[in-house]
Amino acid sequence: MADLDDIRDGDNFGLNTPADTSAFYLKGMNHTDWGIKNRMSRIFNRKSGRTVMLAFDHGFLMGPTSGLERIDINIAPLAEHADCLMGCRGSIRSCIPPENTKPICLRTDTGTTILTEMNHNVLLSEEQAISMNPAAMAAMISVGDAATEASTIANFSRLVDIGNKYSIPVMGVTAVGKDMARDARYFSLASRVCAENGASIVKTYYTEGFENVVACTPVPVVIAGGKKLPELEALELAYNAIQCGASGVDMGRNVFQSEAPLAMIKAVAGVVHDGLTPKEGFELYEEVKNSQG
Ligand code: 5RP
Repeated sequence: MADLDDIRDGDNFGLNTPADTSAFYLKGMNHTDWGIKNRMSRIFNRKSGRTVMLAFDHGFLMGPTSGLERIDINIAPLAEHADCLMGCRGSIRSCIPPENTKPICLRTDTGTTILTEMNHNVLLSEEQAISMNPAAMAAMISVGDAATEASTIANFSRLVDIGNKYSIPVMGVTAVGKDMARDARYFSLASRVCAENGASIVKTYYTEGFENVVACTPVPVVIAGGKKLPELEALELAYNAIQCGASGVDMGRNVFQSEAPLAMIKAVAGVVHDGLTPKEGFELYEEVKNSQG
């Protein structure tokens, strides 16, 4: 019991300072609770409102793809230059030091690989996912694929239930399959399905007409980089997405398969956060690459 002597009445109510009723800085997040907002604030830079997520979740589908042969060597040193690390529990546990303070976006669905039919996925258990201390959790939906559409959306919806229970944002990742169109109409549909099912972030692909994809998705949208492009083109991709209203990137191959991954992630961050043009970003890339010797 606290000492009851000398209980002083408060006399500093800040009567000239109204309570802050300004909106939260990220699209679609106003009505979410404190935990979701707090985690989103760790992922999205407060000043730019954007994020550079580094994706290295490819191995569970593709094995040791180029640039990801050794996550301890290829990815861990880049961590400090990303805003968020997106990967699977196994590689994060074994290759990312637990002292890491960058937020983790945990890939929570797993299943089949490139050797068979992809996307027949299940979710990690709730306990396993939570034990990784994720700032966000991600799962893919394969809209338009008759064999896996229903099960991937069911997985996604269950993941949002888990996320909402613990106030952990969920990122919906829109698949691109052999038979799926890669146009704004398709990505608008797939992104909107993620958002309608409770996504706090949507990861999709840049395409012509991307401003429509962003406009019809009521939460922040980030783009995947897709297959490796020459560095200037990858910076143009990021720039164009940002111009269309994207809230950042979740890039993998265009960073870790670059000739100079550290220079590339710094250049991408320059475009995403600092308003660099692709040309300026490329100059930064060259400068950092050349300074590495
Ligand atoms: C689609 C994904 C990938 O696992 C990965 O994160 C994509 O990154 P990138 O296309 O930039 O290499 O999101 O499953």
